[in-house]
Amino acid sequence: MALRALTLDDAPALTRIYSGASVRYTTGRALSLDQAPEKIRSALVRAAATPRAQWSWGILAADEMIGLIALRRRSPVMGTISYILREDTWGNGYATDAAQQVVAFAFTTAGLERVEAMHHPANPASGRVLAKAGFSRSGTTDQPAADGAVVPYETYAIRNRAR
Ligand SMILES: CC(C)(COP(=O)(O)OP(=O)(O)OC[C@H]1O[C@@H](n2cnc3c(N)ncnc32)[C@H](O)[C@@H]1OP(=O)(O)O)[C@@H](O)C(=O)NCCC(=O)NCCS
Repeated sequence: MALRALTLDDAPALTRIYSGASVRYTTGRALSLDQAPEKIRSALVRAAATPRAQWSWGILAADEMIGLIALRRRSPVMGTISYILREDTWGNGYATDAAQQVVAFAFTTAGLERVEAMHHPANPASGRVLAKAGFSRSGTTDQPAADGAVVPYETYAIRNRAR
């Protein structure tokens, strides 16, 4: 597993990632080939911003882009991570590897003291990813669902032990 910056050539791979079970507990809708370049462009614009508040990487396995992971700075000391992997690549430890690399980046290059994450309550695999990457459960936070209902997402955090 390796991480790399996104390029506009990643649009077809991105549409394959944002489909099926992968979007069921995240955005709720598949990404079309029309929409993918815009999503990549906005990541590239944020990558060029100063000060930088967002980092996005493609997750590579065997030279193929199979997922996306992002770090967002929310305050001078706190950031959040999010990730999504193509459904047919789940269960290989890729998300855990990627989360560990991005947490290490957050605590070194980005200079953060705390990283938070959350997942849909019906997606326990994501909770396992966070636990394996060293996060602790911190509670729940209500998030609005597409149908107007409120869903209690499970929240997690990890602190920089080097500080
Ligand atoms: C969460 C997600 C990234 C997992 O990716 P992955 O590469 O399969 O993750 P890993 O292989 O590193 O680890 C998955 C773990 O979940 C476990 N798991 C899988 N399905 C599970 C289930 N239904 N219940 C409990 N644990 C489950 C696996 O056994 C594994 O744990 P283990 O190593 O202890 O056996 C993937 O499911 C996904 O893209 N989901 C949609 C997006 C999302 O929810 N993102 C999180 C919010 S930011």
